[in-house]
Amino acid sequence: MSRSTEDLRTHVADTLVRGRARTTALTQVDEAELTAQHSPLMSPLVWDLAHVGNQEELWLVRDVGGRDPVRQDIDELYDAFKHSRSSRPSLPLLSPAETRGYVKTVREKVFDVLETSGLAGDPLQDKAFAFGMIAQHEQQHAETMLATHQLRRGAPALRAPGTPSPPVPVLPAEVVVPAGEFTMGTSTEPWALDNERTAHPVHLDGFAIDTTPVSNGQYQAFIADGGYARRELWSAAGWEHRVHAGLSAPQFWEHDAGGSWWRRRFGVTEPVPAREPVMHVCFYEAEAYARWVGRRLPSEAEWEKAARHDPASGRSRRYPWGDEAPTPSHANLGQRHLQPAAVGSYPAGASALGVHQLIGDVWEWCTSGFHPYPGFSAFPYEEYSQVFFGGDYRTLRGGSFGTDEVVARSTFRNWDHPIRRQIFAGFRCARDLSPGEMG
Ligand code: AVJ
Ligand code: FE
Repeated sequence: MSRSTEDLRTHVADTLVRGRARTTALTQVDEAELTAQHSPLMSPLVWDLAHVGNQEELWLVRDVGGRDPVRQDIDELYDAFKHSRSSRPSLPLLSPAETRGYVKTVREKVFDVLETSGLAGDPLQDKAFAFGMIAQHEQQHAETMLATHQLRRGAPALRAPGTPSPPVPVLPAEVVVPAGEFTMGTSTEPWALDNERTAHPVHLDGFAIDTTPVSNGQYQAFIADGGYARRELWSAAGWEHRVHAGLSAPQFWEHDAGGSWWRRRFGVTEPVPAREPVMHVCFYEAEAYARWVGRRLPSEAEWEKAARHDPASGRSRRYPWGDEAPTPSHANLGQRHLQPAAVGSYPAGASALGVHQLIGDVWEWCTSGFHPYPGFSAFPYEEYSQVFFGGDYRTLRGGSFGTDEVVARSTFRNWDHPIRRQIFAGFRCARDLSPGEMG
């Protein structure tokens, strides 16, 4: 993947422009909606936008560019570690108009820095790493802003075409992944973040993994079978949370008097589509479903081996389908649609082992906590990953329909508390092989 510096510059510019088009669209709501707190879990949209601009200023204007600050006085306001999400609406934030002006000024300076940077040399500049990191930061906040839109009440504010409905192939329920070593993580992906580094061998016993994410229809069968009332299906922590939070179905679902399930999706109430991957379930719900069906969730290493390992060559691919960047026929990414696509919709995106829809559609809960890979070194700041290692988190893999391709690598690691449901997360199940299957 060697690129001339000019091609890289163009790629950086296109990627930054795509991110800004998205955050601009996500902030095309009236002033009251921008400054409101739609959920205590979320920031006001106007905070996310100014924070995106402030990070861009810190890393690209000041650090990489060596330019004078634009607004040093607001650094503290938009430091995510200084103010909890729930306290952000009461801060003396920039107004929506000031925020738009601020991010525009910062972006103009960044384009100037981009023109003059050699995109080589120190690790922040090399292969435009800092530009890639900031482009990913804006897109990660765009996905967070999309979750805020899902939580807000009122008339729909976002539009997108429905998912394509190609003829859905008949797929085996699971894929067997033979025992052996594979390469996890990356040392070569230029914009991989610190927690994805470095490439290292991992040996796994054989296991089987679901060919596709668990669907709404399958999850409805779990509910109908009393899954939420059967304590033996839940972990101790999961049961305690289920009772305390009163969970009885995925977030945003309700059923009518006739027992049919409906869901609210970006302001529209519609029947729950049976073939779409289930989402807005927490880790504990995923775990209980898996136990109900006689299976378990995969570890992060199992997920990544299913996604990347090519048994023919023994190497790990960049993406399930190969090394080329995602196209709309590989995966449902980038908020092109406002929902995941039916299971089996992306045969061109299957992995070498035959596992489908690993990238896009829904984030997938894994059993692993969030821990560093061997030899981890925080770069370029400890607050991206290091301060979260070992906390009360579970990892999530693969990205959702709301994840941009600059983020959705098959080495990318996401993490959240096991009780969170507002993220666009679902899951697939796995199981150990029985002695007779091990070959
Ligand atoms: C990696 C998605 C958990 O949104 O909290 C954004 C990404 N880090 N700004 C988050 C992030 C700093 C992070 N996650
Ligand atoms: Fe951030």
